Amino acid sequence: MNGQIFKMNIIGCGKAARTVAQAWIQTGRVEVQAVCNRSLSSAEDAIRFLGQGRPVNSWQEFPRAQLLLMGVPDKAIAPLAAQVAEEGIVHPGMIIFHLSGALDSRVLAPFKRCGAFVASVHPVMTFADPHRAAQEFHRCSCSLEGDPEATHLLANLVRSAGARVLHIEPGVKPLYHAGLVMTCNYLVALLEAGLQALEQAGISREVALSVIQPLVEETLRNCWKWGTAGALTGPIARGDVEIVSQELQILKGSPQLAEIYRSLGRLTLEIARKQSRLSPQEEASLRRILE
Ligand SMILES: NC(=O)c1ccc[n+]([C@@H]2O[C@H](COP(=O)([O-])OP(=O)(O)OC[C@H]3O[C@@H](n4cnc5c(N)ncnc54)[C@H](OP(=O)(O)O)[C@@H]3O)[C@@H](O)[C@H]2O)c1
Repeated sequence: MNGQIFKMNIIGCGKAARTVAQAWIQTGRVEVQAVCNRSLSSAEDAIRFLGQGRPVNSWQEFPRAQLLLMGVPDKAIAPLAAQVAEEGIVHPGMIIFHLSGALDSRVLAPFKRCGAFVASVHPVMTFADPHRAAQEFHRCSCSLEGDPEATHLLANLVRSAGARVLHIEPGVKPLYHAGLVMTCNYLVALLEAGLQALEQAGISREVALSVIQPLVEETLRNCWKWGTAGALTGPIARGDVEIVSQELQILKGSPQLAEIYRSLGRLTLEIARKQSRLSPQEEASLRRILE
């Protein structure tokens, strides 16, 4: 990149775009010129956060730039790409990218007809608080795919902000994103399931949260250290058919919790098999009661 500073405009500067833009501004490699949100007051707010650039009412007011970040929600990317590509603000060689984990760069196809290069850059991070997230950006990985002319430059920007680059194929994005949904969103849902069972056992939510915190933290630490097979403990790993059977019996009154227990129990059994501690009889009995 030879110390070049890249000028960037942003359409949709919410939580994710603010974080990425702020992290890149801090590298000294990117300068934000203009931001267009749905409302001018929101664009003004974004500019105050970034500490540079100017808010605009419409992307037609954008000054010329090498980069265009489409930080709008997933469902707005395709309609906006079709609309913006029609309006003569895209020049050949421009690099246009979005931040979605679920969609790939093909959703930006209308820009390619204007000679632009397109990509998706998905930061694998949850951005509830952009102030904190921008400081933590270096800890995340960013998955990139798209035109090589775009991904080459964007990968360099990601790396210069200290984050890791993961190159992926466009076709795998739904599967890739499903994996992340399960590890992030469903982890929250799983904690909720456990808390509901503990509440039914008469433990208040507040107490239950503090009880499970060290358990969850230690389990995660063990997963990072030893992988899932190394971290697994509990009745299924021990082949304790009686305990699993009793627990399923008591969960009959809560069909949703019972379904989660059975479904994840079958996956737990697959992990337990890798530990080679279960006898064939224990494995068969567990499989039967978890069906
Ligand atoms: N949040 C995360 O944790 C996270 C993580 C990784 C990737 N992402 C991806 O980042 C993208 C944005 O998500 P987000 O969470 O940052 O959303 P967000 O906080 O809701 O921000 C979306 C921004 O887009 C603007 N916008 C919406 N429709 C628009 C339109 N038609 N024209 C111009 N601006 C428009 C909104 O403007 P107003 O402010 O005026 O409403 C808002 O500033 C999505 O693709 C998402 O998948 C998010």
